[in-house]
Amino acid sequence: MRAAWERGELTGQQNEVTVFHLDGGAGRLVLVGLGPRARYGAEAARRAAARAVRKLKGKGARTVVFRVPSFVQGRARVEEIVRALVDAAYLGSYEFSQYKSEPSGTIDSARLALGRELGRRASALGRVLREESTLGATVVWTREIGNLPPDTASPARLAEEARTLGKEVGLKVTVFDEKELARMGCNGILAVGSGSTSHPPRLVVLDYPGRGRVRRSVAIVGKGITFDSGGISIKPALRLQDMKFDKSGAVSVLGVLRAAALLKVAPRVLGVMACAENVPSGTSYRPGDIVRTFSGKTIEIVNTDAEGRVVLSDALAYAVAQYHPDVVIDLATLTGAETVALGDDTAGLVANDERLAKALLAASAATGEPLWRMPLTDYHRELIQSDFADVRNNIEIPVGGMLTASAFLEHFVGGTPWAHLDIAGPAYTTPQTLRFQPAYQPRGATAFGVRTIARYLLDGAPA
Ligand code: BES
Ligand code: ZN
Ligand code: ZN
Repeated sequence: MRAAWERGELTGQQNEVTVFHLDGGAGRLVLVGLGPRARYGAEAARRAAARAVRKLKGKGARTVVFRVPSFVQGRARVEEIVRALVDAAYLGSYEFSQYKSEPSGTIDSARLALGRELGRRASALGRVLREESTLGATVVWTREIGNLPPDTASPARLAEEARTLGKEVGLKVTVFDEKELARMGCNGILAVGSGSTSHPPRLVVLDYPGRGRVRRSVAIVGKGITFDSGGISIKPALRLQDMKFDKSGAVSVLGVLRAAALLKVAPRVLGVMACAENVPSGTSYRPGDIVRTFSGKTIEIVNTDAEGRVVLSDALAYAVAQYHPDVVIDLATLTGAETVALGDDTAGLVANDERLAKALLAASAATGEPLWRMPLTDYHRELIQSDFADVRNNIEIPVGGMLTASAFLEHFVGGTPWAHLDIAGPAYTTPQTLRFQPAYQPRGATAFGVRTIARYLLDGAPA
């Protein structure tokens, strides 16, 4: 190692990876450059450790041991780094391989070498380790569902996943099928799902009761389009396979509920998944249709590809009317405009409540899942006025697409403190974007939002 250093082969630059083979088959030592010390923090640690894990995975390693750098001082700083290293171990080693005949290497576990000076704090760190391991394992579990192909991950299958989860971790799960949706007046979900003869829509509700004398309740609502072809307003073929990821919001709802139940967060948490397949056929909904939603408000359908807001109109209004939650948060791969505005690593945040927005931004800063707040103004509200119905689902001009979609959703939350996360960009990675992503975001579903919303719930869900 000294020789490598003296020859200038080790510089410590960020992203530099060097592998040493230890004598006598004692394993390998992977050194990853962290860059300048002044810029070292949780995110740098998460990225560097994930790179190391990926490197080792490719070489058939099964166990990884990390060491917290000795210059990291203070309880809060150490905790933050430990969380990042645990994240990296789980998220960085993940690969969707269940359909591969010959899966590549797996890493069973990560042990953290905490160092002698930290031994005294081991019990406090033990709690952090257990908590973050649960979150990491939950992200992996969520990605496995998010990556399922659209022939398999139908609305009914997502409902089954919710039922199975409910039995495993103790959640009350209710599934509404198309007959029940018709009785309830959820004509938005029905309209979007009407084109699919093979995969009918479902509304799924998961109920985690909270801990102790529960005061707060939070509803997490997710867009669950199992495949978005655009419907009659059909999309071009290029990268259409990515539209299996249009269920990512609903899938992240599953992950959040799993984390909430396993970590026994204080607030009551309701998960609501609006699941449908958007495909063209003789039974599809059409541009020009007017749909009366659960809330009673009518929607003029202008573009059947703006289907996410239509299924969410029922899911949001149902969550608010049925449970009167203190807070509603929705997660949706809602608009291509989100990706244009913020890129594919950052989610767009729109909120009608300052404290809620602040709390989510704080949670995002802690987890490293980037979130950026966007404005919602009367300009966007006016743009979605309809000549024929209460609101229209699209406008003729391509301006402010993320925000006109948000103005649409706002109609269905009443006065409830509400936050909308447009995760169209960060919900998944593509071959084109993969090399610009940190190593803890492998190809495919990322389960974006699970760690941030879980953190928000662990913080007591302020608003
Ligand atoms: N699922 C898409 C949004 C999307 C696009 C997510 C790309 C991830 C990557 C959504 O249903 C959609 O098609 N939105 C349209 C809305 C438009 C018709 C108003 C869009 O963004 O183009
Ligand atoms: Zn669409
Ligand atoms: Zn969509």
